[in-house]
Amino acid sequence: MSGYKRADHFTKSARAGGFPARSVFKLEEIDRKMRLLRPGQRVLDLGAAPGSWSLYASTRIGPTGALFAVDLSPLAQALPKNCTFIQGDALALSFDVLAAAGPFDVVLSDMAPATSGTPSADQARSFRLFSFAVDVAERLGKPRSSFVGKIFMGPEFEAARARLRALYAKVDVERPPAVRKQSFECFLVGRDRRAA
Ligand SMILES: C[S@@+](CC[C@H](N)C(=O)[O-])C[C@H]1O[C@@H](n2cnc3c(N)ncnc32)[C@H](O)[C@@H]1O
Repeated sequence: MSGYKRADHFTKSARAGGFPARSVFKLEEIDRKMRLLRPGQRVLDLGAAPGSWSLYASTRIGPTGALFAVDLSPLAQALPKNCTFIQGDALALSFDVLAAAGPFDVVLSDMAPATSGTPSADQARSFRLFSFAVDVAERLGKPRSSFVGKIFMGPEFEAARARLRALYAKVDVERPPAVRKQSFECFLVGRDRRAA
C-alpha cells in the first residue's frame, strides 16, 4: 500500500483528536513554534476543507474570535459557532465579502491545486493560489498581523518569498514533520505585518 493510502501516525492521531485531516499537525506545529493564533482574533482560512485547520484555529481564537473559511469543496463536519464557511472558488469571491469578514489578524492559506502529475504546471497553479492569498493579506491584514501560505517549491518560490518580505518584518519557510516526504509543499510564514 502506498504512503498516501496507508493511514499513518498523523492520520490516526488526527482522527483520534476529532480532526478530519492530518493537515492539522502542520498548522499546529507552525503555531506552536510561532504563537500566531490567540483568543479574540479574526482569522481567514482559504482552502479550508475538509476543515482541520479551521477547527484547530477556532479553538485557539475562542468564542470571542471569528473565523471565515472558504473552499471549493464542502467541509467534512460542521464548524463551531465562531466560524462562517462559504463553499466556492476563493479567487472568484467578491472582495466585498472578504472585506466584510475582515480585517484579519491572521490569514491562512492551505489552498492546493488538484495535482496533474506535471510538476511545472502544479507549481504554477500553486503559485497563483499563494499569490491570491497574499493579495488578500495585503489588503485585509491588520498591522502586526500574520500570514501562513502553502506553496509548492518551484521556480516562483523566491518571488513569493520576496513578496512576503516586502509586507512582513519576519518571514520564515516552514516544512512541518506532518508534510509527507514525497511532497514538494512548504509554508511561507509572515509575521509582524508592516504598516501600510
Ligand atoms: C490541502 S487541502 C486543505 C486542507 C485544510 N487546510 C484542512 O486542514 O482540512 C487544499 C484545499 O484547497 C482547496 N482549494 C484549491 N483551490 C481553491 C480555490 N480556488 N478556492 C477555494 N479552495 C481551493 C481544495 O478544494 C482543498 O480542499
